[in-house]
Amino acid sequence: MSSDSLTITDNRTGKTYEVPIENDTIRAIDLRNIKVADGDFGMMSYDPAFLNTASCKSRITFIDGDKGILRYRGYPIEQLAEKSNYMEVAYLIINGELPTKEQYKEWVFNITHHTIIHENMKKVVDGFHHDAHPMGMLVSTVAALSTFYPNARQVLDADNRRKQTYRLIAKTPTLAAYAYRHSVGMPYTPPDNELSYSGNLLNMMFRMTEPKYKPNPILERALDVLFILHADHEQNCSTSAMRAVGSSQVDAYSATAAAAAALYGPLHGGANEAVLRMLAEIESVDKIPAYIKKVKDGDVRLMGFGHRVYKSYDPRAKIIKEVADQVFEVTGRNPQLDIAMELERIALEDDYFVKRKLYPNVDFYSGIIYQAMGFPVDMFPVLFAIPRTSGWLAQWEEMLTDPEQRIARPRQIYLGSGERNFVPIDKRG
Ligand code: CMC
Repeated sequence: MSSDSLTITDNRTGKTYEVPIENDTIRAIDLRNIKVADGDFGMMSYDPAFLNTASCKSRITFIDGDKGILRYRGYPIEQLAEKSNYMEVAYLIINGELPTKEQYKEWVFNITHHTIIHENMKKVVDGFHHDAHPMGMLVSTVAALSTFYPNARQVLDADNRRKQTYRLIAKTPTLAAYAYRHSVGMPYTPPDNELSYSGNLLNMMFRMTEPKYKPNPILERALDVLFILHADHEQNCSTSAMRAVGSSQVDAYSATAAAAAALYGPLHGGANEAVLRMLAEIESVDKIPAYIKKVKDGDVRLMGFGHRVYKSYDPRAKIIKEVADQVFEVTGRNPQLDIAMELERIALEDDYFVKRKLYPNVDFYSGIIYQAMGFPVDMFPVLFAIPRTSGWLAQWEEMLTDPEQRIARPRQIYLGSGERNFVPIDKRG
């Protein structure tokens, strides 16, 4: 008997099965051999919300949630945030290696030369109500891009996939800025290809009448670091959506729109917006204990706290706190910071949070920075979606090129009624 195996005894039959172990994991399909009678379907594993199920093998992002470690392609997030920039990190995530100078130049050229969107897209954006949520607009406009690039359906063609990858990374900031400008009734600002990725977003969002927008270098760098921190996070809800939807071989725009829709939720990328709404609701430091009581009573959740994977301090939250200091030197201190810091202090000492290993996550402080930089609260999930697009696309590429991958199709345990005969409506009662 191999030592890399698991022996399972089915007490219903007394039969014993040997199941191979690879990477500390057994294949759920191996359980199918476990049957009471020959004609049975066989055993399944039940794992609602994927608490302990690996849905893929990946080489992109490593997280050790107990130790608070996050690495992209092996590089610690702290080093990337300090020494790299978002364009380079996006290349790394998608290609697996840091680029050479030549590769970097070509990559940036290709991204910056796909930033413009078709004029008809403006009509799509114009069709939204003035108070439409920008994340709803982003989800819709990303999906609408698929109608502009019908050949994107050729998802098994590597060159074609690469083209859609450039387009999506390039165009999401443009779509995001259009959504914002529409909501404030301002003319759309075209992209400026001489600016950095984050500098150009600031340009498209905030340029007024000046002939050339010059981003503040500290804010531009801060936004770039925030983009690095948000670029990928392995198999979270939106990435799983990207993989599952993409596994049907739909085009990248439709799959990315599905991922963005998953990100929109308050338990995921919508949490940064929810944190700011929560801080506004708390109002002042003296009202924090009453709010903590509501959290402990189960009435509300402390938004920006807790994580499925991190059971210690989220390494991204640590870096964000440093970025916050630099941003506030330029913008002045965001008064919400005092409430957030006191909330964190109290929560980290409180038994409820300590026992459940609930720590601040990436969303706890990011919104405070975005707000200080002048972004409206409902743009925060959009600011998460822009950099996460490279992560989604890297995972999509990995999924489509994985020889083991097939259409995602989970099983269920059926607990409904057995077969019964239809009763006409006048005989029901
Ligand atoms: N406030 C209060 N209690 C919480 C919180 C919170 N933020 N998060 C978890 N708990 C409690 C939860 O009630 C449960 O307690 P009990 O065992 O007594 O029932 C326990 O902690 C475990 O929680 P869970 O809901 O089973 O954990 P999960 O892994 O299913 O959920 C989470 C993870 C992130 C959805 C959750 O922690 C949460 O809702 N946090 C607030 C929303 C948030 O900040 N989301 C952003 C996540 S980071 C960015 C991203 O990648 O999306």
